[in-house]
Amino acid sequence: MKFDIDAYKKRTARLDDGDIDYDAFADQPLDSATLRTLRYMHDVEHHTVCYMRDLLVTPAHNDPEMTTFLTFWAFEEFWHGEAIGKVLAAHGEPSGRVRVAAVRTRHKLRDAVAPIATMITSSMTDNFGAVHMTWGAVNEWLTQAGYSRLRARANHPVLNTLLERIMKQEGRHIDFYSSQAERRLAGNRAAQRLTRMALGRFWAPVGATIMPRSEVVHLANYLFADDEGREIAARIDRRIDRLPGLSGLGLISNAVERYAA
Ligand SMILES: [Fe+2]
Ligand SMILES: [Fe+2]
Repeated sequence: MKFDIDAYKKRTARLDDGDIDYDAFADQPLDSATLRTLRYMHDVEHHTVCYMRDLLVTPAHNDPEMTTFLTFWAFEEFWHGEAIGKVLAAHGEPSGRVRVAAVRTRHKLRDAVAPIATMITSSMTDNFGAVHMTWGAVNEWLTQAGYSRLRARANHPVLNTLLERIMKQEGRHIDFYSSQAERRLAGNRAAQRLTRMALGRFWAPVGATIMPRSEVVHLANYLFADDEGREIAARIDRRIDRLPGLSGLGLISNAVERYAA
């Protein structure tokens, strides 16, 4: 599949939540498991700009299609974080800059080292882009699935609408990363080997590097530990299987077993 960056450029937009009735949560509040999940999603969405920084220290910054996408990707993810923040605020919870600052403070050292390590490793091989794009595809698939599961579990009319709009934009992020991954892996055995190794050894669920393990465990249990959740995890694994040279990794199902145990 070819991703049309010009079409994405035209379509990209701040998440439309002008008609979302955040006050409705006062009469019909969300339960604690849903709010705990939303805190995680808020923090991870707002961390996107830091993920983007780590990508921009790689040769990706030389590719104008890539930098165009990343610009709008970070913009859209920011507004996902803001919208989720409004849901948290409607429940009297801290959100936005207060939570974001706390996450960044927790990871000061890691955040200082990560771009340097990424810059060095990405300069050692031409195939680092394949790893990063595949990693992005896996994370966007998992993110969209997470929202879909949260929608099903919480089943709250206002949250449903918001999550559906977020998921629509996540779908376009999936299209970009998966088409990039497909193109960079196709016919390139070295890229396939490196990507297999990197994902198999180092991949962890979205947000696992910045959120406490207890919160990753909560998400795994709340969203993916039942039959429907496990089927969705297996479906993402089948999508990964279809990328050139990546069959049989079982990343998502293994992660559910590991964290939901
Ligand atoms: Fe998002
Ligand atoms: Fe996304």
